[in-house]
Amino acid sequence: MIEFVDVTKAYEQGSAALDGVSFRVDKGEFVFVVGPSGAGKSTLVKLVYREEIPSDGHVMVNGRNVSRLKRSAVPFLRRGIGVVFQDFRLLPRMTVADNIAFVLEAVETPVREVKRRVSWALELVGLPHKANSFPAQLSGGEQQRVAVARAVVNSPAIILADEPTGNLDPDTAVGIFNLLAEVNSMGATVVVATHAHSIVNAMHRRTIFLEKGRLVRDVAAGGALR
Ligand SMILES: Nc1ncnc2c1ncn2[C@@H]1O[C@H](COP(=O)(O)OP(=O)(O)OP(=O)(O)O)[C@@H](O)[C@H]1O
Ligand SMILES: [Mg+2]
Repeated sequence: MIEFVDVTKAYEQGSAALDGVSFRVDKGEFVFVVGPSGAGKSTLVKLVYREEIPSDGHVMVNGRNVSRLKRSAVPFLRRGIGVVFQDFRLLPRMTVADNIAFVLEAVETPVREVKRRVSWALELVGLPHKANSFPAQLSGGEQQRVAVARAVVNSPAIILADEPTGNLDPDTAVGIFNLLAEVNSMGATVVVATHAHSIVNAMHRRTIFLEKGRLVRDVAAGGALR
């Protein structure tokens, strides 16, 4: 589903953000990516949805080399990937329902289907009563649940989350991770870059450890992090 083959990413300035990284994530897996600040976690995530392209090696998503995609094919790649960011990135002037529906309207889904899917996504994240609220009227945890709803609304095969609980208190963070695990149990492949070590330890999932751009460990059932 996702494969990195000897991937190096050097930004214009500075040393390599990723250095010779190889791993494969199969369909339906749930994988944490951990490591100190600057280790390359966000870079890894960005390479999957082609926000960045590798300097060397290649990134395969669904059997296709993402560096070789034509510009016109990039939206198709991204339609199959839902992304959750640390800072939620909801549109402030749109209601919760419209923030979620926006994704579907961009791909010209029929109105009835949009309504059905938005209701389903809001139900999934436990916020059907907030459909007509604006983001600023929600708590941080609620905003992030809306961001998860938006990421899953068109049932993408892959969900990426980059530090999705970085701005949340620990209890709220556990709720977001459980939600991502639930989405995974429904069939999505989920990759989560995070600093939330205590939660990673508690969840016993595959964990990829980055250090200074190198993949230093890849543990099947998660390991005790410090
Ligand atoms: N757009 C960019 N231009 C230049 N250097 C960058 C850029 N983005 C990231 N870097 C550098 O690449 C390295 C890896 O950054 P990255 O954001 O992937 O780390 P990270 O593991 O996500 O860190 P954090 O935990 O702080 O989010 C860092 O040294 C960073 O300074
Ligand atoms: Mg980061």
